[in-house]
Amino acid sequence: MRQPPRAPAASPHAPASRGPRGADRGPARGPDRGADRGAGTGGLTPRWAVDENTGLDRAVDRVAGQRRAQANLLPPTSQRGDPVMAAVLYDALEAASTTDALASPYPHGFHSWPAGLHPTIAATVLSGLLPMVPQGGVVDPFAGGGTVGLEALLHDRPFVGTDLNPLSRMVGTERCRPRSLTQVQAVATVLAGVVERSKDRVRQKQPSRAPVSPEIARQYAPHTLMELAGLLAEIDAIPRDGGPEGIRNTLAVGFSAILTKVSNRRGDTDGTAGIPRPDGIESDDVGKRVGRFIPTERFEAKVHELLDKQQALHDVVGDDILPVTLVTADARDLPGVLGRKKASLILTSPPYGGTYDYTHHHAHRLAFLGLDAGGDAQSFDRRELFARRRANPSAFDDETKQMLASLAEVLHDDGLCVLVVGDAQMGTARVDAAAHLESLVHAAGLAMVAVASAPRPDFTGGRDRLEHLVCLRRR
Ligand SMILES: C[S@@+](CC[C@H](N)C(=O)[O-])C[C@H]1O[C@@H](n2cnc3c(N)ncnc32)[C@H](O)[C@@H]1O
Repeated sequence: MRQPPRAPAASPHAPASRGPRGADRGPARGPDRGADRGAGTGGLTPRWAVDENTGLDRAVDRVAGQRRAQANLLPPTSQRGDPVMAAVLYDALEAASTTDALASPYPHGFHSWPAGLHPTIAATVLSGLLPMVPQGGVVDPFAGGGTVGLEALLHDRPFVGTDLNPLSRMVGTERCRPRSLTQVQAVATVLAGVVERSKDRVRQKQPSRAPVSPEIARQYAPHTLMELAGLLAEIDAIPRDGGPEGIRNTLAVGFSAILTKVSNRRGDTDGTAGIPRPDGIESDDVGKRVGRFIPTERFEAKVHELLDKQQALHDVVGDDILPVTLVTADARDLPGVLGRKKASLILTSPPYGGTYDYTHHHAHRLAFLGLDAGGDAQSFDRRELFARRRANPSAFDDETKQMLASLAEVLHDDGLCVLVVGDAQMGTARVDAAAHLESLVHAAGLAMVAVASAPRPDFTGGRDRLEHLVCLRRR
């Protein structure tokens, strides 16, 4: 029998009690934050790269030949606007610069998500701003891996998240799922059967075909691909009596989480060469032989890791939780998703302009899970906002206006909306994302309340850009 996870009290994410869970987790607020704090790299020369496992920028200092990794972001350098709101935003960026995003005992960080939001930013913004908005729901229209959803759960608020990527709903569901010890044991029993049967398939050299294109198949050694196909067939064979969102989903997400690790790929994107990854994978793994049973054993370990975190979540939120609703939908269709409901607080990180192609990042996962065909896949490809492959200034303006119109329509009259935006890349030009928003919010019926900004190294090797937390309200 698996042991219950250690008590999460030592974690910076651990709320003290029920009530506004996590209300004591934010740092002290105040309008006196300096606008000129340094990056604080201790005089060392950091080598930067983005870590796509969580999307966190990761500083790697070489100290006396020893590689030391800091899963921290650079601290903020400026704030402006309403002093109280600006202080919350500044504190959020500052707290994230001193907190390891992966230290959370909860399912934050489980499963890679490119440019995932640092959970401490979400926690600090919710702790700081929820007391200033009406009771009601938190909304994240670009929900990704579900960081904001999990924090909303910890803050006792109902949550609605949308994302065009169909994998988002699967991953977010697991990140926001508390499980009691009994429930964990039920999943562990099913898991043990799947693992045993997968290994039997390998022993018997049972042929299985992975449902992926030759291009994706080439990213795996043939025997690894065969083992993955067999494992997937065993997951697919789990009866649906727990519902499609039940045990099958948990195991499918565990499967998805190992797919890069057992491939020949460096990471979910390039840019990780030589950089230790938060889940312990070194890019030195590239080209290493993935032995027999390794995919199945890594899958088993991943699911147990998830179950431990879900149980830790259950320890603080119990069974009596407010609804977490995740929908595969376009952020521009928020009014249709929410119906008559209004958002008290929107907290979201849209794709940086012209920087990522999210459809490509998870292409191998979507293929294995059968999510790469049909309406959702086509819609993801066609409707992805701010995509690098379509970057141009007029599309950037148009798409930003459409996004703002959707946000404005669902925002409560007394609600607040915080956007986490990075400076955009339009060809060779960098566009200040906060200034760009400022030029467009008025026409959307919104007003800029406060901004705080922090430098972010560019993983493509370009010069640093700024990431901004921008707080908006209805005019
Ligand atoms: C920066 S990520 C969000 C990360 C998320 N905050 C997290 O912590 O995991 C941006 C997300 O926007 C999604 N996206 C892109 N275009 C979209 C659209 N039109 N509607 C909804 N989501 C979209 C991408 O699939 C991606 O998951």
